[in-house]
Amino acid sequence: MGSVIKWGILGTGRIAKKFAEDLQYVQHAQLIAVGSRSQQSADVFASQFQLAKSYDSYEALVQDAEVDVIYIATPHVFHYENTLLCLHHNKAVLCEKPFAMNRKQVAGMIETARRKNVFLMEALWTKFLPHYHAMMELVANGTIGEVVAVQANFGFKTTEQSNKRLTEISLGGGTLLDIGIYNVFMALSVLGKPAGIEAAMKKSVEGVDEQCAITFTYNNGAMAQLFSTFNATIPIEVHLFGSKGNLKLSHRFYEPSCEIFVSEHSGSEYKKVEVAKTQGTGYEYEAQHVTDCLLKGLKESPVLSFDDSLLLIETLDAIRNAGGLVYEAD
Ligand SMILES: NC(=O)c1ccc[n+]([C@@H]2O[C@H](COP(=O)([O-])OP(=O)(O)OC[C@H]3O[C@@H](n4cnc5c(N)ncnc54)[C@H](OP(=O)(O)O)[C@@H]3O)[C@@H](O)[C@H]2O)c1
Repeated sequence: MGSVIKWGILGTGRIAKKFAEDLQYVQHAQLIAVGSRSQQSADVFASQFQLAKSYDSYEALVQDAEVDVIYIATPHVFHYENTLLCLHHNKAVLCEKPFAMNRKQVAGMIETARRKNVFLMEALWTKFLPHYHAMMELVANGTIGEVVAVQANFGFKTTEQSNKRLTEISLGGGTLLDIGIYNVFMALSVLGKPAGIEAAMKKSVEGVDEQCAITFTYNNGAMAQLFSTFNATIPIEVHLFGSKGNLKLSHRFYEPSCEIFVSEHSGSEYKKVEVAKTQGTGYEYEAQHVTDCLLKGLKESPVLSFDDSLLLIETLDAIRNAGGLVYEAD
């Protein structure tokens, strides 16, 4: 790899466009190519972002010798096969969340990356954002004491016009893998691996979870309560309750527009914590990290490791097991 990491994007949907937009803020990175199922979509995308190369298939994209790393932005059910396609062509991979549909698929992706000696990382962008780091630092330095409970909610009301991948079982629909994953990620970040997992799901006629309520229990008595829904538009917030005080991540806790508020002593007023502003939407942080890893010759991220992704998918599997949610990939 040269001194500039050359990126390709696989898929031309909503998130692919946001990511492409944010790549302009990444040092030592250049977006050079896009692959789509259709030449027309690839061409429109390429013209929007002034890319020299647009391919009418994912197979053509991975054969471009100039591309170093590929960002995979397809529906969940395709992450496994798309990642393997890239790895088999020795392309480093940043793959959208959820990494894949279940632990078996994630383990297969990791095993392939190790065998091919190619970089692979899950695109869990929140882990790279300034406000997430600020929250983790406040927890680590004991500002709110020992965290005894985490509450996280993520929900919005879907309509007839909503993206079909949210609701169709064949596309990996349901709240848990799409938005509930952020609730789970936050609880794992703050409290670690739970000792016990309980979950209840309200299923749609399609058979996916349109509401999901989860309880994590811990040996030290801590608990997490996590709720995701497609049936109501709700405050998308995280609350950490501590032995000394409380911390709140305001609306859209998973993205940099959210704000942090801390109440340092029980009953004291919440005060806003200042956090660095991002230049773009926030995807530039994970993209910069991957670019830096590749420039250093790393094959695994020291920030979002394979073990981190395995813990996340194992937890999601356990929640689905408790809620009785099965996909074709299982
Ligand atoms: N990190 C985040 O903030 C964030 C936000 C939203 C979504 N995501 C994740 O990103 C992934 C994509 O989400 P999205 O909202 O961008 O989805 P989207 O708008 O529906 O785009 C998905 C793209 O995947 C490709 N694709 C391949 N096979 C497909 C099929 N059978 N049906 C539909 N599309 C297919 C299409 O691109 P071509 O037609 O060009 O091949 C399509 O444009 C999901 O896994 C989601 O969890 C992450």
